[in-house]
Amino acid sequence: MRPDWRPIAAVLAELDARGEPTPPCAYIYDLDALRSHAAHLRAGLPPGVELYYAIKANSERPILAALADLVHGFEISSGGELDWVRADFPRLPLIMSGPGKLDEELDAALAAGAVLHLESLWELERLAGLARSRGRRARVFLRINLPLGEAANTTLVMGGRPTPFGLAVDELELALERLAAMPELQFEGFHFHLLSHQRDAHAHLALLRRYLAQVRAWQARYGLAVACINVGGGLGVNYVEPQQPFDWQAFSAGLSDWLATEGTRPVLRFELGRYLSAFCGFYATPVLDLKTRYGRHYAVVRGGTQHFRTPAAQGHSHPFRRFPGASALADQAGPELADAAVTVVGQLCTPKDVLASEVPIARLKVGDWLVFSHAGAYAWHISHHDFLRHPHPEQRYLPAGHSAGLPPSLEPQQ
Ligand SMILES: Cc1ncc(COP(=O)(O)O)c(C=O)c1O
Repeated sequence: MRPDWRPIAAVLAELDARGEPTPPCAYIYDLDALRSHAAHLRAGLPPGVELYYAIKANSERPILAALADLVHGFEISSGGELDWVRADFPRLPLIMSGPGKLDEELDAALAAGAVLHLESLWELERLAGLARSRGRRARVFLRINLPLGEAANTTLVMGGRPTPFGLAVDELELALERLAAMPELQFEGFHFHLLSHQRDAHAHLALLRRYLAQVRAWQARYGLAVACINVGGGLGVNYVEPQQPFDWQAFSAGLSDWLATEGTRPVLRFELGRYLSAFCGFYATPVLDLKTRYGRHYAVVRGGTQHFRTPAAQGHSHPFRRFPGASALADQAGPELADAAVTVVGQLCTPKDVLASEVPIARLKVGDWLVFSHAGAYAWHISHHDFLRHPHPEQRYLPAGHSAGLPPSLEPQQ
């Protein structure tokens, strides 16, 4: 089934019809598609496997509200995210990581009943002191920077190499000794978030097997009870070839087959960000100008990477679709382009403000809309919003029952 772009086009028509000289940029979210996608992912997980949402990917309140009853809880990485989430979801289970947690953040997480992923021996000491002084018991996981060798070769790797995340493997024994002497800390398991952008379902299954085997080895060696292994996030989105998405069907089938052979084991917990929310978001921007420089055709759009940093952050050319515009801007006799490869840039005064490069396009004119899909994760929330102080984009939500179509997890593989 192909995406139905009509609900997106309807929002663009509405923005055009407002009669402003230049229509605003907008993020448009499809919450129906987000919910179907999340429900499908959850249904594909075998028993004893949990799904959390890493809200750093996109923490807009309607996104969180759409996901809250479909996931086991939210993963947060700051006191700001903790306050943000707790304001609306006072009872939802929370887990918290981050390499530089303040005492105030540890204290607030403790008071909120969040599970803490500890990332250094010093953090462990500080949390124990806080828990003791509050007369509370903190539930903790140890985040470990596990050597992975060939198992981790995506474009964004947080472990198996020098990074500030988690404890080094050679600190584990000391951490366990200290934990044993700290009744105020209740050890529940291990946390591994070692990579993002995993596009290979079989490689990811191999990684999870590696985690479980490692934890079993530690259990045997240290006589440890481990309730849960947090296997992190990291499932990738194929921005460059969106028609070849991560093969969720193969992944969930492989996970079920494998776990059926494992007998008694700790719960496995995913904390997915990108793969949950990327597909539900669209960034729409009107074309302001068209120009050709040294043989390269440029479309200058309103906004740019200060709204939508995803392509610059990942170094890719982001997929988009053109829609004819009907605003005052489109009514002008502006430049046009036909049968050309176009590079889409924003309004910033830096040559790095590029959203897509050399994309073949049949026709383009000033006032047309470009709508970037796969813009629901690490998009607005990782962008440098106030650089040049252009207006921020609007945040729009498609009305319920007007979904732009199936998320790729539900589409047949090509
Ligand atoms: C600790 C932790 N967990 C989960 C995630 C989510 O990762 P992804 O969006 O690749 O699923 C991140 C992202 O940086 C993270 O830092």
